[in-house]
Amino acid sequence: MTSSLLENRVAVISGAARARGIGLATAELFARQGARVAILDLEAEAPEAAAAKIGCGAIGLACDVTDPEACTAAIERAVAEWGQVDVLVNNAGLTQRRRLAEVTADDYELVTGVILKGTMQLTQAALPHMPRQAGAAIVNVASLSALQGGGVFGGPHYCAAKAGVLGLTRAMARELGPEGIRANAVAPGLTLTDFSRGANSDENKHAAAKAYPLGRVGRPSEIAQACLFLASEMSSYVTGITLDVNGGAYIH
Ligand SMILES: NC(=O)c1ccc[n+]([C@@H]2O[C@H](COP(=O)([O-])OP(=O)(O)OC[C@H]3O[C@@H](n4cnc5c(N)ncnc54)[C@H](O)[C@@H]3O)[C@@H](O)[C@H]2O)c1
Repeated sequence: MTSSLLENRVAVISGAARARGIGLATAELFARQGARVAILDLEAEAPEAAAAKIGCGAIGLACDVTDPEACTAAIERAVAEWGQVDVLVNNAGLTQRRRLAEVTADDYELVTGVILKGTMQLTQAALPHMPRQAGAAIVNVASLSALQGGGVFGGPHYCAAKAGVLGLTRAMARELGPEGIRANAVAPGLTLTDFSRGANSDENKHAAAKAYPLGRVGRPSEIAQACLFLASEMSSYVTGITLDVNGGAYIH
């Protein structure tokens, strides 16, 4: 692999400040590959501090993706800094362990608001600043839960939101393909982050090791590598796909 797959590309990544998260691992990898990276996250996750740690000119911006004005403001800050957005990674997410009957209207709003509406809103904010016919790419982080109806740790509203992200990704690919903007999804299986801490008990890891053909759960850096592939020219003829990154947990 060359060492600069994203040389001089501007990448905006949502939900990317949390230590040990997929977003931060992606931001670090992209920066190492030459990208100028804007880390978006809730204020509480200290995106500026995360960016300072990465270095390479990364910037951190507070942005709650459920707030359309915050999405616009964050994208405008990145554009003021670098002029455009070449790569957008919609990674912000959260989950709740619930059974169907337990999901309240507020739960549904929260989870679908961050995952599905957030993906739509941040993309809408970025789109006017994404260059046409110049290798721009959108990567949406979905989940194995969307494919197999849960079974990891997300509740049914999480599965529905992530499945919505897959449909949205395909619609983006269809609409934006003629403009030279690609859109793809990554569907991680169980990955070792704080998000999945509850599911990462020794017992669960042991069960996953047995159930997953590759014998272990994933690392954030391995999801980041899939995002890099879809963000870079390595995947120049790939759009509308869901890239499974799950150690073979779901083979179809
Ligand atoms: N860890 C797993 O096993 C796993 C599996 C499949 C999919 N995923 C998906 O990967 C993505 C990253 O998850 P992770 O495991 O790194 O978890 P994480 O909790 O480390 O990261 C999620 C990030 O999203 C941010 N976020 C939450 N609400 C937000 C909002 N309203 N606006 C902006 N940012 C917000 C959080 O602050 C956090 O930084 C999520 O979309 C998650 O659904 C994770």
